[in-house]
Amino acid sequence: MLNKKTIILGVTGGIAAYKAADLASKLIQSGASVRVIMTRNAQEFITPLTFEAITSSAVVTDMFQTAAEHRINHIALAEIADAVLIAPATADIMAKLATGIADDMLTTTVLATRAPVILAPSMHTQMYQNPVTQENESRLKARGFYIIPPATGRLASGGYGPGRLPDTEVIIGHLKAVLGRSGDLAGMNIIVTAGGTQEPIDPVRVITNRSSGKMGYAIAEAARDRGARVTLISAPVSIPAPPVVDIIRVETAVQMKEAVQRAVSGADALIMAAAVADFQARDIAENKIKKEKGNLTLELTGTPDILAELNGDFLKIGFAAESQDLLENAQRKLIAKKLDLIVANNITEENSGFGSDTNKVTLIDKNGVVQNLPLLSKREVADRILDQVVRLLNLKKSNNNPAQKNTPA
Ligand code: PMT
Repeated sequence: MLNKKTIILGVTGGIAAYKAADLASKLIQSGASVRVIMTRNAQEFITPLTFEAITSSAVVTDMFQTAAEHRINHIALAEIADAVLIAPATADIMAKLATGIADDMLTTTVLATRAPVILAPSMHTQMYQNPVTQENESRLKARGFYIIPPATGRLASGGYGPGRLPDTEVIIGHLKAVLGRSGDLAGMNIIVTAGGTQEPIDPVRVITNRSSGKMGYAIAEAARDRGARVTLISAPVSIPAPPVVDIIRVETAVQMKEAVQRAVSGADALIMAAAVADFQARDIAENKIKKEKGNLTLELTGTPDILAELNGDFLKIGFAAESQDLLENAQRKLIAKKLDLIVANNITEENSGFGSDTNKVTLIDKNGVVQNLPLLSKREVADRILDQVVRLLNLKKSNNNPAQKNTPA
């Protein structure tokens, strides 16, 4: 989604300025065109040459010098920007922007642009928490600037608290969320489940499966990037939470069911990519089961079927992980669970299904096979599923409002 987007990266003079090099590099790797503007103070921490090498573009360091040397007038970058991202943003730049001061190329560009402006504040905790900075932040937010909350952690000053520049992936997640605000899922409320639930046997052991959460997390990110408000209900996984997605962490099938039931009120679609355990221990041992007991027989009972038991005015999308009779079994689940769409997942294919980065799936709706997809990255699969969500939501809308059907496009 960053492909062919023009990002103006403003770098201001904080200790985290060096991290902006990694940010510029990752943006370039994602296909974005990056133009860097550095303040005078930023150049005390890192040289323009670093950014020129990374972006293969001249770095703008001074308004007048630049105009002469690079023939860039003072609003040229403002006009070509898809987004202006200031990372790190110091207390100083926040104060200037909050009060409308435009005395260098960065502030001038921000004042002149129609593109969204995103700031990643980074400074000592006391400076960030100072009422002046907080007031500036509130003003900026009120004027439509997007603020990425600083991370909490160890600071260059030796202290600990909020004020760290978030990781590059987090900043890029926020940037994508902003750029996706007018996407085809804008205003939609999408609930996604992911990961394998864990059913306890005793205080240290669980019954679980090999789900890594990658498929569900990819759907959550893709929906966010297309403008949706996303709630991700996640069983335990070891991958990072996608930024700008509300995450609810659960362990068992029963907890997932309760979380889903709460989340679907007001939802437009529920996408259940989670591998929910079908069985749970009938009795959970209070103490660790001792090995000396020799063979162990566990009595298992069924877990609630979350999808089958849910009804409401939202799309219900399920997955079917199958090792045989893929399409028949998936179609049977589509009907039994009253789904609008099922993603038939052939887990016998190489590099497909549990744990892999790719998936080979067939999308089936009430009328039969919609798409038989080749092996794709989980992110690409996520986008193909969301294409169907958009189609089904539009269909639902026109069925609810038949007059629209006859309106010429
Ligand atoms: O997490 P990854 O490593 O990326 O792997 C992705 C995946 C293989 C886990 C995922 O793509 C997938 O196929 N998820 C569904 C796996 C599964 O449990 O399928 P199922 O056939 O058992 O269940 C059918 C549907 O009912 C699923 O949408 C499931 O979430 C839902 N279900 C299942 C059991 C249950 N008690 N309640 C449910 O709602």
